[in-house]
Amino acid sequence: MKALQAESAIEALSLSKSFQGAQGRYLVLDNVSLTITRGEFVSMLGPSGGGKSTLLNVLAGLEQPDEGTVRIEGRAPGWYPSIAYMQQKDLLLPWRTLWDNVLLAPELKSRAEKRRAADTARKLVHEFKLEGFLRTYPAQLSGGMRQRAALIRTLLCDQDILLLDEPFGALDAITRGRLQALLLRVWRAYGKTVLLVTHDVDEAVLLSDRVVVLSAMPGRVLGEYAIPIPQHARAASPETPRLKARILETLVGDATDAS
Ligand SMILES: Nc1ncnc2c1ncn2[C@@H]1O[C@H](COP(=O)(O)OP(=O)(O)OP(=O)(O)O)[C@@H](O)[C@H]1O
Ligand SMILES: [Mg+2]
Repeated sequence: MKALQAESAIEALSLSKSFQGAQGRYLVLDNVSLTITRGEFVSMLGPSGGGKSTLLNVLAGLEQPDEGTVRIEGRAPGWYPSIAYMQQKDLLLPWRTLWDNVLLAPELKSRAEKRRAADTARKLVHEFKLEGFLRTYPAQLSGGMRQRAALIRTLLCDQDILLLDEPFGALDAITRGRLQALLLRVWRAYGKTVLLVTHDVDEAVLLSDRVVVLSAMPGRVLGEYAIPIPQHARAASPETPRLKARILETLVGDATDAS
């Protein structure tokens, strides 16, 4: 067990991915390499349409790259049972209540597993302020509620690696802050590896060990920024705005180049 600790959780090497469009194939990911060690919290920023969700799909094994390789916990491509993936579209099942949606993963394992997960689910539903909606169907939930339900469902997958695609996008500032804190608690308590996609530089710098900036399409890695400031000191550290400025410069510089 100890020996595995040093291994990379995610290793993506020279990934390229293209899609077929009306005018022929177009490149979405261009030679993207990314290594995330076990227990690391990495955020990814980049312009809309730059290929962030596509990259997560490739890492999760839902899309095949044209070139390059992905290794999850040292394993060759295939089925990656150690990944829980919260996709950008919440993908709640419309015919299941909120409660049955959040417990989907344990239920797929066994009834006993579902019973075991129910306690944790109840706590999370309480923390996410969704107790009043357990019997509600997704169509009757707001966007933010659906997003919270999808995040609970992802956490209840109980996997070591979390891929989170804009998990806080539809939330108000106060709920977002609470859930960011909760995610950090889960990350620390269970030693998870997190790759989080966000459009929010503040969020990326506040939460992560490292921030990766992807370019506009075709997505390339423009820069990686380690955040060496202890989490509790980030809000007040004079280094924080400097780091944010450097990251923004990379993002804005890319947008300017593209125009
Ligand atoms: N399955 C698909 N088939 C064809 N084109 C696709 C497919 N998935 C994504 N694309 C295209 O790939 C490009 C990148 O999309 P992607 O969703 O990865 O961007 P993104 O960086 O996640 O954007 P956003 O920040 O808006 O979520 C877009 O031009 C999109 O239209
Ligand atoms: Mg996306």
